[in-house]
Amino acid sequence: MTTVIDSKAADHADQANECTWWRQATVYQIYPRSFADANGDGIGDLVGITSRVPYLAKLGVNAVWLSPFYPSALADGGYDVDDYRNVDPKIGTLDDFDEMVSALHAANIKLIVDIVPNHSSDRHEWFQQALAAGRGSAERDRYIFREGLGENGELPPSDWVSMFGGPAWTRVDDGQWYLHLFASEQPDFNWKNRDVHEDFLTTLRFWSDRGVDGFRVDVAHGCAKELPEVLPTQAELDATPTTDGQHPIWDRNEVHDIYTEWREVLNEYDPPRIAVAEAWVASAERRARYASPTELGQAFNFDLLEADFDAGSFLEIVSTNLAEAKTAGSSTTWVFSNHDVVRHATRYGLPPRHGRDVKQGTEWLLSGGTTPELDVTTGLRRARAASLFMLGLPGSAYLYQGEELGLGEVADIPAEEHQDPAFFRNPGVDPGRDGCRVPLPWTREGVSFGFGSGEAHLPQPAWFGSVSVEAEEGDPASTLNLYRRALELRDDLQTAEELEWVEADAPDVLHFRRPNGWEVVTNFGTEPVALPAGTVLVSSGPLAGDTLPGETTVWLKA
Ligand code: GLC
Ligand code: CA
Repeated sequence: MTTVIDSKAADHADQANECTWWRQATVYQIYPRSFADANGDGIGDLVGITSRVPYLAKLGVNAVWLSPFYPSALADGGYDVDDYRNVDPKIGTLDDFDEMVSALHAANIKLIVDIVPNHSSDRHEWFQQALAAGRGSAERDRYIFREGLGENGELPPSDWVSMFGGPAWTRVDDGQWYLHLFASEQPDFNWKNRDVHEDFLTTLRFWSDRGVDGFRVDVAHGCAKELPEVLPTQAELDATPTTDGQHPIWDRNEVHDIYTEWREVLNEYDPPRIAVAEAWVASAERRARYASPTELGQAFNFDLLEADFDAGSFLEIVSTNLAEAKTAGSSTTWVFSNHDVVRHATRYGLPPRHGRDVKQGTEWLLSGGTTPELDVTTGLRRARAASLFMLGLPGSAYLYQGEELGLGEVADIPAEEHQDPAFFRNPGVDPGRDGCRVPLPWTREGVSFGFGSGEAHLPQPAWFGSVSVEAEEGDPASTLNLYRRALELRDDLQTAEELEWVEADAPDVLHFRRPNGWEVVTNFGTEPVALPAGTVLVSSGPLAGDTLPGETTVWLKA
């Protein structure tokens, strides 16, 4: 009798877990073309990912977020999608995808796929139809076409600059112009057109039916647009607040109608599919709207990623976001690195002012690796401390492939080897994002450090061997083993989403307690402080007797 009741209780707990796993998950981002190359053509592929599932299981992540793997000319690393319901033949097939899903699920790892609703690629069937059908057609209405200015419409409809630099309008053969907030190969969809809605609902169902557990929504804050007849100038656009939902492009209030509709589809599944918004918005309060249970459910929170390594900033960010998430009925997310920003082990080794604008841009004169000067040791020490701090927090932690190795940015990619449009559209100014997308080193040696049997599609520096999985595997003090230990312990923290701040002795120290009684202490300063009482579970660096050295985090058990 007892056993029956117990197993029923366990079933209920499992079911509840199936629906809420995302609230405090550890999610590992894979940039598929740079993770593992199974067939040796230099490009990471789905079979490569499947072959590394044991590595992911040993690391202890709960889910994988896969950046775009759809057919694409790679004008923007796959964020220029030709076909939303297929796999890029360069990296696999739908069968490979199914096998990857099975292997992940067998290892108890969920899968979140990237979905890109703001724009398609210019090779997408619909955009090709729009070009062929001509002005005023139903086909063209799925994108944002305008007549140009000037006597013969030879000037763009406005002086807007794309996110990657250069004009945001491109002219087509019959003289009209189309809008692209990103590269010219990425025409923006017109979300006032019903076809666009229906097609994305079909895509959500397509991948959900294939067993994916959720979606990461690219540029979620940009889809709804309200462009007046007379367009504002770029300067006027820049001066328009993004706080009230009325900006012509960013974070408009009606963008939420899209995600309410998506939620209905996601909830058709059992368990409901999850979604996480990429929304660079003005405040935690604006972000919480995307994360509401009637919409996507969760949103990226880039506040820690944008902050300097500083106790005061971290305290403020953690407190605000925990409170906002609670109000929204969601859970917080944390992230330090992804495929768009300079890796945090490098960021933290640069002067603090560079921590403020982490989106790659003019602030980051890293090409050549000398300006500004990089302090590699400090960068890694802080990155490890920051990551261990984050992994102790309530909420979901998003990791980016390679950060578990303590990888730094590759700053010396030769100009002719670059791939990122941000590099090409800002010659000599923006190093672009290739430096964080270099294929992972798996072994100490070999033609591509074990990434594959051929040369990698982006050049790997000689020092990659020393931070390879093989090199770190057997070293108990390695960053890889730090992450493994923390993730193993983290299971015990994934209960109540609470923390309680503990008064610290020094202003540079943050100290909090989780409901299971464990304590997390980070010394953001450079001088050692007294180590609070307790058994050490894990620390981000060596401890010295009863002291917690500078730039170090420790987890303690009473
Ligand atoms: C998001 C992606 C980025 C991409 C852009 C356009 O910001 O993270 O990599 O370039 O959207 O799709
Ligand atoms: Ca390959």
